[in-house]
Amino acid sequence: MAFQTATGQDLRLAADWLRRSELVAIPTETVYGLAGNALDDRAIVKIFETKERPLYNPLIIHVGHPDQINDLIVSPDAEVRALIDAFWPGPLTLLLDRTSRVPDLVCAGLPRVAVRMPDHGLTLALIQTCGFPLAAPSANLFGRISPTTAEHVKSQLAGRIPYILDGGPCRVGVESTILGREDGVWKIYRRGGVTMADLEPVIGPVEVVTTSEVPEAPGMLPWHYAPETPLTIGDTPPAEAKRVGWLRFRKAMPGVPEEHQFILAPDGDLRSAARRLYEGLHHLDALHLDQLLAEPVPEEGIGRAINDRLRRAATPRHPDSI
Ligand code: TXA
Ligand code: MG
Repeated sequence: MAFQTATGQDLRLAADWLRRSELVAIPTETVYGLAGNALDDRAIVKIFETKERPLYNPLIIHVGHPDQINDLIVSPDAEVRALIDAFWPGPLTLLLDRTSRVPDLVCAGLPRVAVRMPDHGLTLALIQTCGFPLAAPSANLFGRISPTTAEHVKSQLAGRIPYILDGGPCRVGVESTILGREDGVWKIYRRGGVTMADLEPVIGPVEVVTTSEVPEAPGMLPWHYAPETPLTIGDTPPAEAKRVGWLRFRKAMPGVPEEHQFILAPDGDLRSAARRLYEGLHHLDALHLDQLLAEPVPEEGIGRAINDRLRRAATPRHPDSI
């Protein structure tokens, strides 16, 4: 179905669409989500269709209040409670054993469901208005750059969804951290807004799972978050690339036109860099140059999540993985 996509802050209108099994783009503190009723198979199917996402890649369920997970997951223990108390609302997604109330489609048939409570007043109010939790992947087409403004959503999904709830630019700018427990050991499946240093005081040692060994989180495809312009990491453009765009951390690349550069954080603050990362990728991609070159940021705190996204953006797509 083709829609005239409207953008605004009308919670009643957004809730009306969602109640009718339609999709609405929602703001969160990390990136915009493409939301549908998490308990409604018709809406879930539309999410996969609209995003052109394969059905084996499961969705995160967004709740409006911590108690809303009680229906969705098998009794949270003390550690899970401690994580929720410390980090919700916020950029932490928990992979937990699910109840039969969670549709198989949301979890791609996996035994765990991913849940989080986003830290954005408009979206929390929307979930409360609807009364049901919202399943939402990032509001981009599959494999493309995640949106951090309503405008980014519009450029990818206009005509495919009826409404974009505009909550302004996202405060964190990279996706949530995905955390789960296997045989009593906490593991990070995707680095994000909550860092290892934030987590360890609450739950003790945490392991990081690398891409290749992650059947539990099938969405962690090695390529992802990709601009249409080929991207490599470093500061040496391939010889054949004539027009090059530069994604820089603090300082411009000398001798390169200003309009072909995007500087993430002149003051060196990694949180600002994270906030501007996708903005920078969207901006440079829209210039339609031959090649993008990304400078890695320091491998510390949220900088690790930024470098992770850059590596995925730089990985050539495998023809079978689409
Ligand atoms: O910050 C975020 O997490 C954003 C905002 C909108 O909340 N959402 C987001 O969703 O990044 P998405 O779908 O783009 O990425 C979620 C990842 C997927 O790669 C998926 O594979 C993994 O989480 N995931 C979701 N449910 C899972 C499950 N039941 N088991 C294993 N992995 C799961
Ligand atoms: Mg995504």
